[in-house]
Amino acid sequence: MSDSDFSMRTLRDINELRATLREHRLNGQRIALVPTMGNLHAGHLALVAEARQQADIVVSSLFVNPMQFGPGEDLDAYPRTFEADQTKLTEAGCHILFAPTVSALYPNGLTAQTRVHVPEVGEGLCGGSRPGHFDGVSTVVSMLFNLVQPDVACFGEKDYQQLAVIRKLVADLHMPIEIIGVPIVRADDGLALSSRNGYLSEQERATAPSLYTTLCTLRDALAQGESAEQVLQRGKIALYDAGFTPDYLELRDTHLGPVTDATRHAVLLAAAKLGPARLIDNLSVQLPCAATD
Ligand code: PAJ
Repeated sequence: MSDSDFSMRTLRDINELRATLREHRLNGQRIALVPTMGNLHAGHLALVAEARQQADIVVSSLFVNPMQFGPGEDLDAYPRTFEADQTKLTEAGCHILFAPTVSALYPNGLTAQTRVHVPEVGEGLCGGSRPGHFDGVSTVVSMLFNLVQPDVACFGEKDYQQLAVIRKLVADLHMPIEIIGVPIVRADDGLALSSRNGYLSEQERATAPSLYTTLCTLRDALAQGESAEQVLQRGKIALYDAGFTPDYLELRDTHLGPVTDATRHAVLLAAAKLGPARLIDNLSVQLPCAATD
C-alpha cells in the first residue's frame, strides 16, 4: 500500500476484526498490535512508529478498560477524544483501529468475567497501590492478543511494571508474540507524556517535571555509590517539598526483583500524586561495583 492511497479502517466489531486480519495473515503479512486507552499523545505515536518498523499491518486498539480502574479512580473522568485519536492514528500510518464497546469485550459484565492474574511481578509498586489493576490489564491485553493474534506488540517503558507483567504473561502462557518495549517520550521539560497530565492545573503542570528531575538527581547519587536507603529517603523528602504526595519511590533490578550487591543495572521507579493526578515515572540506573576491602 503506498502512502497516497492510505486510509485507516475503524472497526468496532470482533467478527469484522477477525475476518479482516485473517485476510492479512493469508497474504503473509506480519501484524503488530499497539494497545491504548486513547487520548493519544506523542508517547502512543512512538509505539505506532515502532510497530510500523516491525510489521506490515499495524493494529491499534482504543479501549478505556473499566476492569483496570479501582473504585474511586478516574474511569469516568478519563479523557475520551475519539475523533482526534482517529486523526492522529491515520497520520501516524496505523492501518486498523479496533475500538470495541465495553459490552462487546465483557458481554456478561465484569463480575462474571474470567480474569488473568500474573503473580509476583505485578505485586508491589503500582500493583500495591492499585489492587486488582494488573489483573484488569492482563485480562484485557490477553483478550486483545487473542482477538488480534499479533506477531509483535509494542508497550511503553513509561509503564515499566506493566511491561514486565505483559512479558511474563506472554512467556507463562506460551503466546507466540514478541513484546517490544519503547523508551519513554517526554515533554521538553522532562515530564513523561501521559493522558493524566491533562488533569493538572497550570501551576501543577509547572511543578510536575520535578518528578523527573528528582529521579535524575537520585540516579546520579546512586551512580556515585551513595547508599540506596539514604538516597531514597532524600528523594521522598524532595518530592514532598516540591508538592507531591509520593505513593512509592523504589530501586529495583531490571526484572523488578530486589537490588543486591551484585546488581549493576537497576531501575528507579516512582509514583506520586500531584493535585488530581497520579503520575508515574522511571529511570534506569547503573550502579557502581561495591567497594572491596
Ligand atoms: P495507555 O495509558 O493509553 O498507554 C498505552 C501505551 O502507551 C502503553 O504501552 C504505555 O506504556 C504507552 N505510553 C504512554 N505514555 C507513554 C510515554 N510518555 N512514552 C512511551 N510510551 C508511553 O497502558 C495502557 O493504556 C493500558 O493499561 C493498556 C495497556 C492499553 C491496557 O488497557
